[in-house]
Amino acid sequence: MNAKELSERGKWGSKIAFILAASGSAIGLGNIWRFPMVVGQNGGAVFVLVYVLAVALIGFTVMLAELAIGRHTQKNPVGAINRIKPRSPWKFIGYLGILTGICILSFYSVVAGWAAGYLIKTVSGAFRGAVSSQVTEKIFTDFSSNPFQVLLFLMVVIGITTYIISKGVKGGIERWTKVLMPILFILIIFLAIRALALPGSGKGISFYLKPDFSKLNGTVILFALGQAFFSLSLGMGTMITYGSYITKSDNLVSSAGWVCLSDTLIAILAGLIIFPTLFAIPGIAPTAGSGLIFKVFPLIFSRIPGGDIFGTLFFTLLLVAAITSTISLLEVPVAYFVDERNWSRKKAAFLIGAFSFLLGIPSALSSGGVKLLTKIDFMGKMNFFFGNVSLAFGALLICLFLGYVWGVKKALGEIASGNTRFRLRPLWTFSVKYLSPIAIIIILFFIRTIAG
Ligand code: PFF
Repeated sequence: MNAKELSERGKWGSKIAFILAASGSAIGLGNIWRFPMVVGQNGGAVFVLVYVLAVALIGFTVMLAELAIGRHTQKNPVGAINRIKPRSPWKFIGYLGILTGICILSFYSVVAGWAAGYLIKTVSGAFRGAVSSQVTEKIFTDFSSNPFQVLLFLMVVIGITTYIISKGVKGGIERWTKVLMPILFILIIFLAIRALALPGSGKGISFYLKPDFSKLNGTVILFALGQAFFSLSLGMGTMITYGSYITKSDNLVSSAGWVCLSDTLIAILAGLIIFPTLFAIPGIAPTAGSGLIFKVFPLIFSRIPGGDIFGTLFFTLLLVAAITSTISLLEVPVAYFVDERNWSRKKAAFLIGAFSFLLGIPSALSSGGVKLLTKIDFMGKMNFFFGNVSLAFGALLICLFLGYVWGVKKALGEIASGNTRFRLRPLWTFSVKYLSPIAIIIILFFIRTIAG
C-alpha cells in the first residue's frame, strides 16, 4: 500500500468482504470462550434462550443503527456523532467507545494469548495424555499462573494486532477473514458432532438446551444482554467504524442479519462442544469460569484419532478468530486518532497497541500470577465492567442518539439507499426508540443489586 492509499479511508472490496470482516469482528473469543463461560455460570439453557431473544430483538436493532450512522457519516464514532450533531455532548458516545475498546482489548488479548500458548502446547503433544479433567485442570493452572508465559503471549497477540492495523483496512483486515472463517465453521461443526457422540453427553445437552425457568433472574438477563453486545461487537462504535467503509449501494439490513446469524450460530455450536463433553467426562464444573474451554477442549482432542492435528487446527483458528476481533477493537481508537487528530496510521496503531499491552498486564497476572490481582479477580472485573456494563451503556446512548437526535426517518433514508423494501421497518423503529432503550435502562438500573 502506498502513502496515498494509506491516507485515504479505504472501502471494503465488496458486500461479501464487509460481511466477512464484520463477522470476523463479531466471531471470536466472545463466541467460543466467553459464551460457554457465561452459559455455565448463569443456569444453562435458560440463559441461551434469553440470549437468542436479546440478539434478535436488541442486538440486531443496535447493529443496524450503528451501520447506518457509520455509512451515513463515513467517519469514526467521534467524528460520526459530531457530523450529525456538531459540538454536542453526544460525542461522548465516541469517547466512551474508544475507552471501552482499549480496555476490552487489554484483557481480551490475554485470553487470545492463552490460545496461542495452547496452540504451542498442542503442537508439542502436551495433551496426548490429557484424558482426565484433573490433568487438564493442572495444565491450565500451571500455564495461566506463569507470569513469563502469559505476558509473552500477550505481547505476541498485541504485536500481531498492531502490525495488521498499521497496514490499513483492506490490506489487513479483509485478507485474513476471507478464507479462515469458513474453515473455522466447518471444524466447529465436526467437533460438535464428535462431542455429541460421547457416551453420557445427554446430561450436557439437557443442561444446555432444556430451560429451567426457576433459574431465570435479573443476573441472567444482564449477562445475556451484555453477552449479546460483546459477541456482536456492539455498543462501542466498532460497527459505526466498519459501517463507514461500506459503499452506498450495499444492503445494510441483510448485512446486519447475516452477521447476527453467523455469530449466534458459532456461539451455539461452541456450547454444543463444551457442555456434552463436560458432562460426559466429569470433574470440571460448568461454573469453571475463564479457564472453562481451556480445560474442556483438550479432553475432546485426547479422544479423537489424530487429536493433535485437530487440536492444532482448532487453536490456530481460535487464535485467528480472536485476532480478527482484536484488530476491530484496535481499529476504533486508531480510526479516531487518524481521522480527528491527524496521526499517521502507524503511529496511532503503535502507541495505542503499546498502551493496551501495559493495561493488559494486571489482567494477565490475575489468573494465579500475582496473588492480590487473583484475589480481586482483576480480569473478571474488567470483563464485567467493560464487556457488559460499558457496552450496554454505549448501546443505550446509540439508540437514544439515533431515535431522538438524528431521527429515525433520516436513518431509514440511509438504510433505504441499499434496500428500498425494508419490511421490518416498523419493528425496528419501535425497538430502536422504545424497546431497546427501556430494556437496557431497566437492566442498568438493577446492576448494583446484581453485581453486589
Ligand atoms: N465480538 C468479539 C468476540 O465475540 O470475540 C469481541 C469484540 C470485538 C467486542 C469488538 C467488541 C468489539 F467492539
